[in-house]
Amino acid sequence: MKEPVYNTHYKKEDYFGDPYPGLVSFFEAYEPKGHVLDLGCGQGRDALCLGRLGYTVTGVDVSTVGIEQMNQVAHREALNVNGKVGDVNSFKISDEHDIILLDSMLHFYKRDVEKETKFLQRMASDLKGDGVLAIFMIKGEQRENQLKRVLNETRFGWEVLADRYTDYPEFDAVYHMYIIKKHG
Ligand SMILES: C[S@@+](CC[C@H](N)C(=O)[O-])C[C@H]1O[C@@H](n2cnc3c(N)ncnc32)[C@H](O)[C@@H]1O
Repeated sequence: MKEPVYNTHYKKEDYFGDPYPGLVSFFEAYEPKGHVLDLGCGQGRDALCLGRLGYTVTGVDVSTVGIEQMNQVAHREALNVNGKVGDVNSFKISDEHDIILLDSMLHFYKRDVEKETKFLQRMASDLKGDGVLAIFMIKGEQRENQLKRVLNETRFGWEVLADRYTDYPEFDAVYHMYIIKKHG
């Protein structure tokens, strides 16, 4: 099997740096502190932070290195954070998952539009009735239009819990935090 690209990146500890401050403050205040499914969790910068805030987290990533690092920290700190090596495109969403977190997982680059559109459609439909979809992405008109188009075309209602842009020095970019709750 081909070595996952991020296995090389994750030889550097904390490759992506600290979690996005907007993510931390949103989830600090949010209640109830349920079960988060962090798809493409990498080294667990968000998953571990959420675990420390009292959430139960399942993290999925194709990078064996990232998952191993995350699970070691979770074990050391006795957090309710469990990393699994797997493909997000086939990982099963269940009613146990209150929140699906996609941080830097949607880019809608031309070559990926179809695949990511299908992925987002599946997230939207498999998420439970009152579940939350928390999306973090670098600002960009085209990609955000695509995101909203896909969600608007679902048969569900989406209540916006957070829709904020802020500077994100770690990524040298403006980041968009878009957190929505499913109805129907
Ligand atoms: C840009 S990184 C973001 C990592 C993490 N969400 C964060 O913000 O720190 C993208 C991550 O998605 C993972 N990934 C990409 N495609 C995947 C797939 N099909 N299944 C599982 N993980 C995947 C990569 O291994 C990488 O860790």
